[in-house]
Amino acid sequence: MPTPLSELPIRPLTRGDLVLCADLAEDRGWAREDHKWGLLLTAGTGYGIDDPAAKGLAAVCVVTSFGPDLAAIGMMLVAGRHARQGLGRRLMAHVLREAGDTPLALYATPYGRPLYQQLGFTDSGEAERVHGQFRTPGREPLPATRPATPGDLPVLARLDAEVFGVDRTPMVARLPAFADRLRVADNGSAIIGYAAAWPTPETDVIGPLVAPDVETAKALVCSLAMDSARPVRMDVDVRHQGLLTWLKENGLEAGISTTVMTYGIPELPGDWTRRFAPLSLATG
Ligand SMILES: CC(C)(COP(=O)(O)OP(=O)(O)OC[C@H]1O[C@@H](n2cnc3c(N)ncnc32)[C@H](O)[C@@H]1OP(=O)(O)O)[C@@H](O)C(=O)NCCC(=O)NCCS
Repeated sequence: MPTPLSELPIRPLTRGDLVLCADLAEDRGWAREDHKWGLLLTAGTGYGIDDPAAKGLAAVCVVTSFGPDLAAIGMMLVAGRHARQGLGRRLMAHVLREAGDTPLALYATPYGRPLYQQLGFTDSGEAERVHGQFRTPGREPLPATRPATPGDLPVLARLDAEVFGVDRTPMVARLPAFADRLRVADNGSAIIGYAAAWPTPETDVIGPLVAPDVETAKALVCSLAMDSARPVRMDVDVRHQGLLTWLKENGLEAGISTTVMTYGIPELPGDWTRRFAPLSLATG
């Protein structure tokens, strides 16, 4: 008699589970994004419930910890065939227990939001996805940007900590290998912004995007997207309507919206005015 899934243990995932995670994402209609799973399972802690009959995973999620002040929850997925049978709730309860007193944040889809609300998460913001073929705007004078160099990394980690409100050095240090392109805005005396472009099977994702103002944010997007034939995807904080409008004027279309939800803190730490887009919805 096989063990019911409700009694199977929640186990830590390793990089060896990458293909099973991508299979589960595909099962829910999400892109496979093996590259992102590789980062998440290396920089974060994955949790999963096996589905022995299907030789796969029934449920997963990944927690990326940024020290005692914040952990990000992402990639919460339950296989369609096991939906609405309590696996999502069990996995989240486990994550909450493991997190202890650490405040938590996530970007919720409409499917996940009711569950997170029941567990005590509250809404604290919204991100809008835009995607499509970016058309480089003609003759718009924008601040200069340049490729990041290895010597920039300590400065980027400090800037990132100011803007995201927690020390994310392990994530920033992985960006040169994870991203295809990493650029900085440098005003001559200091690095004031930075952005990365990293690949999924269908698109280049731009994130994180950190800038002191919308003009610098536009310059970083242009510098990352203009030489690429691939479509672009971004999840932009809806408070940055100036950037969203400009992106839509330059070829991108509105996609899904996600709700920023937090647990143990009223809102994300840091400086939202300079935080235009997260690295990914899964990591913040
Ligand atoms: C969101 C998700 C992880 C929930 O997992 P699940 O195992 O189906 O959820 P549970 O059975 O534990 O349900 C927990 C509660 O969430 C809510 N819920 C779950 N699925 C829901 C749905 N389709 N519509 C509305 N509420 C839903 C319900 O309140 C449910 O409690 P109830 O069944 O007692 O009413 C799953 O639906 C999923 O993988 N969806 C696709 C991917 C996704 O959007 N993930 C969320 C990313 S933030």
